[in-house]
Amino acid sequence: MSKKELNSDDSKLIEAAKTARSKAYAPFSKFYVGAAVLTSTGEIFTGCNVEISSYSLSCCAERIAVFKAVSAGHSELLNCAVVTDTTPPASPCGACRQVLSDFSSDLRLLLSNTDGEVRITELKELLPHAFKPAEVLKKLNHNS
Ligand code: THU
Repeated sequence: MSKKELNSDDSKLIEAAKTARSKAYAPFSKFYVGAAVLTSTGEIFTGCNVEISSYSLSCCAERIAVFKAVSAGHSELLNCAVVTDTTPPASPCGACRQVLSDFSSDLRLLLSNTDGEVRITELKELLPHAFKPAEVLKKLNHNS
C-alpha cells in the first residue's frame, strides 16, 4: 500500500485526534485542534491545543501529543494525525514541524477536518532539509 493511501490504522489515528479535539481549550482563538501520534511500538498519544491568557504560553495540539509520547518513553513516531474544522485541513505550524522532526525519521501526516476530508503528506515535504538532533550531538562530541 502506498504511503499516500489511507488504511484502517490511519482512520483510528484520525478518530483519536478528533476525540482529542473535543477537549481543546481555546477560549481566545476558538480555533480547536486535535492531534494524535502513532509510536513505533504501535501506541497512540493524543493532544489538544491549550491556550493561556498570556498568549505566548499557549501550546499546540501536536506538541502536547508528542510530549506525552516522549514522556512515556517513546522517541520514534511513525504517523501524526491533525484534525481541525478548516477547509482544507490545517497543517502543523513551523514550531510543531521541528518538534515532530526531532522524534521521527520519516513521519507521515494525516491532515483532516471535521467533514472527513483527509490530506496525506509527509513531514519531509513540509520541512525539507530539517535541522536534526544529530547535528547538535555531533558538535557536542567534537567539543568534548
Ligand atoms: N494550533 C495548533 O494547535 N496547532 C497548529 O499546528 C497550529 C495552531 C493552535 C494554537 C492556537 O491555540 C490556535 O491553534 C490558533 O493559532
